[in-house]
Amino acid sequence: MWPKCIPLILLASAHLSLAASLAKILVYTRTLNFRHDSIPTAVEALKARSSSIDVEIDNTEDQNMFNDETLSAYDAVLFLSTTGDGMLDDAGKTAFQKYLNLGGNFIGIHAASDTLNTTAFYGQELGAYFDYHPELQNATILVLDDSHPSTQKLPTEWPVQDEMYNFKSDPRDVGAVVVLTVNESTYTDDGTRQYDQGSPHPIAWYQEHGAGVQSGGTAGRSFYTALGHLNETWQDDTFMSHVLGGIQWTLLANTTKAFNDSAVVGNGVTVAAGNNSSTNSSQTSDGNEHDSALTVSVWPVWYCAMSMVVVSLYFQ
Ligand SMILES: *[C@@H]1O[C@H](CO)[C@@H](O)[C@H](O)[C@H]1NC(C)=O
Ligand SMILES: *[C@@H]1O[C@H](CO)[C@@H](O)[C@H](O)[C@H]1NC(C)=O
Ligand SMILES: *[C@@H]1O[C@H](CO)[C@@H](O)[C@H](O)[C@H]1NC(C)=O
Ligand SMILES: *[C@@H]1O[C@H](CO)[C@@H](O)[C@H](O)[C@H]1NC(C)=O
Ligand SMILES: *[C@@H]1O[C@H](CO)[C@@H](O)[C@H](O)[C@H]1NC(C)=O
Repeated sequence: MWPKCIPLILLASAHLSLAASLAKILVYTRTLNFRHDSIPTAVEALKARSSSIDVEIDNTEDQNMFNDETLSAYDAVLFLSTTGDGMLDDAGKTAFQKYLNLGGNFIGIHAASDTLNTTAFYGQELGAYFDYHPELQNATILVLDDSHPSTQKLPTEWPVQDEMYNFKSDPRDVGAVVVLTVNESTYTDDGTRQYDQGSPHPIAWYQEHGAGVQSGGTAGRSFYTALGHLNETWQDDTFMSHVLGGIQWTLLANTTKAFNDSAVVGNGVTVAAGNNSSTNSSQTSDGNEHDSALTVSVWPVWYCAMSMVVVSLYFQ
């Protein structure tokens, strides 16, 4: 037994020392109103970079994924250019609220703020609802907070071509911290603003404790960016550093299994660093598949180690 155990244990310790948490994110792209043709480009861009931040992405447009069991496997839910009020049914909204109460994290991108427009907890979790935007044009984004992971790689004055959203309220009212604003002198908005969105004009923000959580719940983090309209945007490294930084920061809420052993939601599966793609099967929209390869491979080692302890105690 001893000679068989030793290599196994050496192997296991090497394996475990390389281990990294693999967070899982459910990217929801269902649209009932306007559908951005950049959605496939965006999903592809996120999937292509996900392993660089130890994240696995599942993409779905199926509202039935919003049930307790399925959501509980995710470290964050990301609404990507979703549109429409009814894109989750009542059961889906209830499961989503419960997920947020259990420490689930949320990320919203672009039209996510024009989604579930009459669902109060969602509006608070995101921070503010979309009002209208002037036509797509060039504008200069200003970094308000350069210490946040979503802005660290951005120039202080960042030229973009995108839709400059106006919002129906000030996200700062629910406790959000604005990290990006837009210089309103650098583009034209002929629309009429009926709401106070605060100043300077909010474009991207975070919430340390997502305001969509109900009292008594464990609040995860929330991050939102209004940028991301065009295909070209999703092919731009600067923009991707903004989104990926926002995702990484959100997961570090430490309220899910990616960074918290006592968390109740999250993937909770560890993989060897640099080995993400080979040990993980589910790039599908199923969400119920789990990578059990490593968990299983550790069992004989554990069994072997325990036997050694028993044997050594016996012969003491
Ligand atoms: C954006 O990319 C998608 C494919 O990912 C393509 O179908 C669509 O036509 C592109 N949009 C534009 C405006 O080029
Ligand atoms: C807008 O910016 C893009 C690059 O993002 C540039 O190619 C284009 O010429 C600019 N358009 C105008 C009208 O300045
Ligand atoms: C905003 O843009 C205008 C016009 O380019 C410029 O004069 C002004 O200095 C900019 N403001 C800030 C805060 O960057
Ligand atoms: C989560 O854990 C990381 C790593 O231990 C730490 O740097 C970070 O501050 C923690 N976040 C919170 C919100 O406690
Ligand atoms: C870890 O998860 C537990 C269970 O949800 C929660 O009570 C605790 O606050 C979490 N830890 C952190 C650092 O958020």
